[in-house]
Amino acid sequence: MSYEPKILIVDDEARMRDSLKLLLSNEGYNIQTGCNGREAIECLNKDSYDMVLLDMIMPEMDGRQVMDYIKGQHLDIMVIIMTGHASIDSAVECLKWGAYDYLRKPFDFEELLARVKNTINQIKLEKENKLINGRLKVTQQRYQYLVNASPDIIYTLNPEGEITFINGAVESLLSCDAEQLLSKHYTYILFEDDLNKAKYHFNERRTGSRATSGLELRLKTSNNSHDPEKCLLIVELKSMGIYDKLIDEIDKTFVGTYGVARDIGDRKRLEAQLLQSQKMEAIGTLAGGIAHDFNNLLMGIMGRISLINHDIDLTHPHYKHLKGIEDMVKKGADLTKQLLGFAMGGKYEVKPADINELIEKCSDMFGRSRKESKIHTMLQKDVCAVEIDRSQIEQVLLNLFVNAWHAMPEGGDIFIKTKNIRLDDEDVIHYGIKPGEFVMVSVTDTGVGMDEETLQHIFEPFFTTKKLGGGTGLGLASAYGIIKNHGGLINVNSKKGEGTTFNFYLPAVEAQIVSQLRNDTEDEILHGTETILIVDDEEIVINVSREMLNNMGYNVFVAGGGKEALEIFKKDKDKITLVMLDMIMPDLAGSDVYNVLKEIKPNIKVLLSSGYSIDDQASEIMSRGCDGFIQKPFNMLQLSKMLRKILDS
Ligand SMILES: Nc1ncnc2c1ncn2[C@@H]1O[C@H](COP(=O)(O)OP(=O)(O)OP(=O)(O)O)[C@@H](O)[C@H]1O
Ligand SMILES: [Mg+2]
Repeated sequence: MSYEPKILIVDDEARMRDSLKLLLSNEGYNIQTGCNGREAIECLNKDSYDMVLLDMIMPEMDGRQVMDYIKGQHLDIMVIIMTGHASIDSAVECLKWGAYDYLRKPFDFEELLARVKNTINQIKLEKENKLINGRLKVTQQRYQYLVNASPDIIYTLNPEGEITFINGAVESLLSCDAEQLLSKHYTYILFEDDLNKAKYHFNERRTGSRATSGLELRLKTSNNSHDPEKCLLIVELKSMGIYDKLIDEIDKTFVGTYGVARDIGDRKRLEAQLLQSQKMEAIGTLAGGIAHDFNNLLMGIMGRISLINHDIDLTHPHYKHLKGIEDMVKKGADLTKQLLGFAMGGKYEVKPADINELIEKCSDMFGRSRKESKIHTMLQKDVCAVEIDRSQIEQVLLNLFVNAWHAMPEGGDIFIKTKNIRLDDEDVIHYGIKPGEFVMVSVTDTGVGMDEETLQHIFEPFFTTKKLGGGTGLGLASAYGIIKNHGGLINVNSKKGEGTTFNFYLPAVEAQIVSQLRNDTEDEILHGTETILIVDDEEIVINVSREMLNNMGYNVFVAGGGKEALEIFKKDKDKITLVMLDMIMPDLAGSDVYNVLKEIKPNIKVLLSSGYSIDDQASEIMSRGCDGFIQKPFNMLQLSKMLRKILDS
């Protein structure tokens, strides 16, 4: 439907009104008329008009007064004034009052029509203009909303590098007001050390349309911390030059830059964490390999000492030397145990346990030998069960106690607390474990505490602040590895001079607790006459094990690998009652040998032995009901007891 412009004709001369109405109606206009000013105002109040054709001289209320009324109430109505006054002055006056146009009576119809058409066109143009402006405003609002809702900093700079626009993101990211940054140079928020980098890279210049992408910069947050490095925001920057090109100019004019700066602090932290854990894994593999080889060597030494000891009595002049060697081998074995803990291997005997019971036992043992430190326990009564390798968690506790003791050279208090606790997503997000129910163990001392720098490194293997010979720096590395390997996490809180708290969390399980307080204090070597097959790829281990077993009275078969073991076993399965099986062999893995052995003779007894376990092979076989596990290096006494325990059960 086409639009029909609405016109009000105001004239006191009826003939004039009627003829204009007729003429303009024929042209498609919608016409109303009024015979004086009062009627005109009534019409204007009732209806809306695009245009008024207004006679100047009328009785009662003249054109001038109507004009005033229109300019006061209906600013958008266009007025064409019709007057008999022929002077230029009066014309100018009309326009001054706000009329759009002016017609001098008498006028011919052509002229009138031309003026009306022109005015109506003008009205249309203005309407269109308004519409476009309205649309522009909506788009502008939408764009403003988007820019302000962006989590990234969005800005424009003028060619001098001064900020001409910056969005609200700076308020949360830099804690400063966006308004206040306007017309400041961009270096105002840039960390001084990055100035050169920024100047060098950040040069979308007058030539070409170079763009910067992926530039990392540090911005100053206006936090008033003492350490300026602490209140920096790391951002990744993308920016581009803005150019104006005038129609007949060849060169573009550089008018500034626009850009986006994204907070990448979290990403950086995650990257650093990933790098750190990759580093730890690599060192772990190395440490595990070393531990494995050393355990085999120690096994050889330990075994041979046991054999000699077996033949001599306490009065023999070499007895004390042998005892000395044995003690050193034990120390070596402790060291490889720490290495294994760190390498996240050696978790063999995992059973549901009561952590409180274990803590009581360890703290008793520790307290007896280090009287200067007073241990206080605050243990949750109904603490959940945890599935652990007891000897490994014991190792963690002892490492923490020893460290606490070292941190309090004058003596002091150690507080041990246990608590059931739920860890949610945000608690575990950086540790790569699943949220859920955990048991928290915390060990607090009142000792010297640590500074930031030390705290950064304590879980690294071989990091120690102790004097040469004072510590190997493996205590916390192994604690870290062991807890991680148990699906838990360990963290620390410490301030220089104010003591330290280590918290570790182990996943809670719903299971029956197996009490494991041992009471075997016998130290007599136990003998037997059964036939045992030793399977190991290390000659040192085979030789010494064979001699130990012979000494205890057993018959012995040996196999240097998995395949050979199966051949021997197939032939002599009726004679063999127990197989001592190494876990890692080059030709056939211990777990595969175990499966075939059980297939051939389901009631065969198997004792696993290992210096190391790369994956969880050993614990997997143990959980399938293998009879026992012995960690290399072991001596004759330990082996003899383990064998009788299995063979007599
Ligand atoms: N409770 C504590 N108070 C103060 N500093 C500690 C505490 N525990 C650990 N540290 C610091 O962490 C370092 C590393 O500890 P970690 O147990 O790994 O090695 P270590 O005790 O030096 O040697 P190792 O345990 O192998 O004998 C220590 O040298 C010490 O500086
Ligand atoms: Mg230590």
